[in-house]
Amino acid sequence: MSLDKNFEDLILNVSSRAALSSYYLIGKKDKKKADKAAVDTMRSELNKINMKGKIVIGEGELDEAPMLYIGEKLGTLNGPEIDIAVDPLEGTNFAANNLPGALSVIAIAEKNNLFHAPETYMAKISADVPDDKIVDLDFSVKKNIFNLSEYKNKKPNELTACILDRPRHKYIIDELKKLKVNLKLITDGDISGAILVTDKKYKIDIFLGIGGGPEGVLAASALDAYNCFFQGRFLFKSEDEKQRAKNMGVTDLEKKYSLKEIVSGDSIFCATGVTNGDLVSGIEQKNNEFFSETLITHKSTGLKKIISKKQLI
Ligand code: FBP
Repeated sequence: MSLDKNFEDLILNVSSRAALSSYYLIGKKDKKKADKAAVDTMRSELNKINMKGKIVIGEGELDEAPMLYIGEKLGTLNGPEIDIAVDPLEGTNFAANNLPGALSVIAIAEKNNLFHAPETYMAKISADVPDDKIVDLDFSVKKNIFNLSEYKNKKPNELTACILDRPRHKYIIDELKKLKVNLKLITDGDISGAILVTDKKYKIDIFLGIGGGPEGVLAASALDAYNCFFQGRFLFKSEDEKQRAKNMGVTDLEKKYSLKEIVSGDSIFCATGVTNGDLVSGIEQKNNEFFSETLITHKSTGLKKIISKKQLI
């Protein structure tokens, strides 16, 4: 079974409408408000779809953030059972400060095919390689770079690595510098960072480092459509986080997950630009008309495309 093709337009509409809602709050220095606008729109658009939808990756758990929370049921509650992962506004700082890279992101899969995860950090790695013999979360930075360099037939100084610019990544960044690998240091937005390995035009050979777990699951859905490699390992800071994970069925807290264990079967991914970014352009206003750009992928149909859409208001 795979997802009906009609879901492509429906999900494209959800992320585009959410992006437009946040667009009105760009540069207002209020990331909560910009996020809430996207959340509210995603919820109302998802509720129009004929499906028995359930949020598996959301804006928190019921007790802490009752907005598109994990476990929330959405849709008309008729139709197929669908798992939904959302990041209504990815790069809340970007939107609040009117900087490039803010996106509205959603992925759907058939029931039980998307990882059901709590909001914790995740160690991640992605590259356009066939399997875990070339890059792996358990390899040293040096081994990953040397293997990748051999596989791509490029010298380390011809490779570019994308990583979130955070103090926790100092040792990775120092290693990469020593190896003369070119860096793309991003200040936020690692869904896009992980996806930049999918196409030569982005000039990124490897993405690595620790970021949000939900962002990892969403990126994995797009990477699957491109047959790229992804691994993730959840990182739990507190006993409370560990308990939440166990309550969601995570038995091995140290497990390294392959892409197929995070997203299996068919899935559709949409990322619409709020502000201009590496993947897609942001919402553009021409007189009273609004235009959006969305990267959409659909695993089973092979769809991988950037779609421009006129938004009706
Ligand atoms: P928000 O949109 O929720 O602000 O997340 C932005 C982001 O940069 C993600 O892309 C990334 O996974 C995460 O934050 C990294 O977290 P931290 O800022 O704590 O390092």
